[in-house]
Amino acid sequence: MLPLTPPDADATPGGFGLYVHWPFCASKCPYCDFNSHVREGVDQARWRAAMLREMDHFAARVPAGRRLSSVFFGGGTPSLMPPETVAAVLERADHHWGIGDGVEVTLEANPTSSEAARFAGFRAAGVNRLSMGIQALNDADLKVLGRKHSAPEAMAAIAMAKGIFDRFSFDLIYARPGQTVAAWQDELSRALDMAVGHLSLYQLTIEEGTQFHTLQQRGDLVVPDEDLAGDLYEATQVLLNQAGMPAYEVSNHARPGQESRHNLVYWRYGDYVGIGPGAHGRLTLKGEKVATRTHRAPEIWLQRVEEGGTGAHADEVVTPDQRGREALMMGLRLAEGVSLARLTAEAGGVNPVDMAAVDRLSRHGLLTLDGDRLTATADGRQRLNGVLAALLE
Ligand SMILES: C[S@@+](CC[C@H](N)C(=O)[O-])C[C@H]1O[C@@H](n2cnc3c(N)ncnc32)[C@H](O)[C@@H]1O
Ligand code: SF4
Repeated sequence: MLPLTPPDADATPGGFGLYVHWPFCASKCPYCDFNSHVREGVDQARWRAAMLREMDHFAARVPAGRRLSSVFFGGGTPSLMPPETVAAVLERADHHWGIGDGVEVTLEANPTSSEAARFAGFRAAGVNRLSMGIQALNDADLKVLGRKHSAPEAMAAIAMAKGIFDRFSFDLIYARPGQTVAAWQDELSRALDMAVGHLSLYQLTIEEGTQFHTLQQRGDLVVPDEDLAGDLYEATQVLLNQAGMPAYEVSNHARPGQESRHNLVYWRYGDYVGIGPGAHGRLTLKGEKVATRTHRAPEIWLQRVEEGGTGAHADEVVTPDQRGREALMMGLRLAEGVSLARLTAEAGGVNPVDMAAVDRLSRHGLLTLDGDRLTATADGRQRLNGVLAALLE
């Protein structure tokens, strides 16, 4: 197992990561509102050159001395990237920031057989953690979710990934149409038999603008109501706790030490460079926190990078008030919670949290305050939007 670079190797609280967005997918899933697009042909050489160029643009802005703790290829479907492009991106990141063996390098993969055939190529390119979108372990639900893979294909891809990567994770979506608690428990037990150290378990969200949203509006898609969704969440916590993989974040479970370093950078409100269409970033520049955002449309992004070195919109300065809020919203997702002193520092010396609300929510079993550490309980994490609204009133 790799000795991982500790996030505090970087001087800025929360650490420093690089996010690379690959915006293409073989088909669009009916529930998905990520920045993902289906295109007939992708000019790989142009895309590779543009990714490298945009990384150079951001690298010139990042102050010297930052230590990268993670790189994450997300999408879209980065497992459709040629391994040579992944290798080229990692070489360039190494040139700018020095990627030692301890840097976590994750790639999101879909488990079709043609993509599984590239796993060894990704490993050779420097990827040391794979995160697979399995979503369901039965063919009927995979079909409802519009996935291109079958359950046997998913299991074969998991077996293949386990043979190649020390660290790997897969995603499942629950609260699917017609799902019962018993069926989910059975599926989760099978998932736990195959998991190594990390699982992401997302409750299905119906996002505006997706096919599922249209179907739901028409009455053609019915998902579990709030009570059943709550029961499914609780059943998830019980089984995963028993299996030694407790939630370290709302939807993410890991054995101790197997947490996603990259996502911890977001949740601990660290800094990250985001390249590729629609990527977000947060950078501390001369004491200010700056939000970066690139153009979402792949072709416009490509053109802007080729013409001007980046597809980024103008930076936005995150005000101290927003910094306090963002750090709270991120930190309460984590089982480790968040330090009030850190929130106060982000917010420019003012505690952004309504302490009377902390008292009230603690009495309802939704929060705990232990010294300086504010933490949402498992119940609180399930109702996080309501908790945050009360704390930030
Ligand atoms: C960027 S996406 C997809 C990565 C990869 N393309 C895939 O589909 O396997 C990351 C994960 O978000 C989850 N996800 C996407 N849309 C969702 C939704 N509407 N509700 C719940 N989970 C969702 C899925 O589990 C998915 O694997
Ligand atoms: S869930 Fe994954 S494969 Fe499906 S459209 Fe979204 S990003 Fe693409």
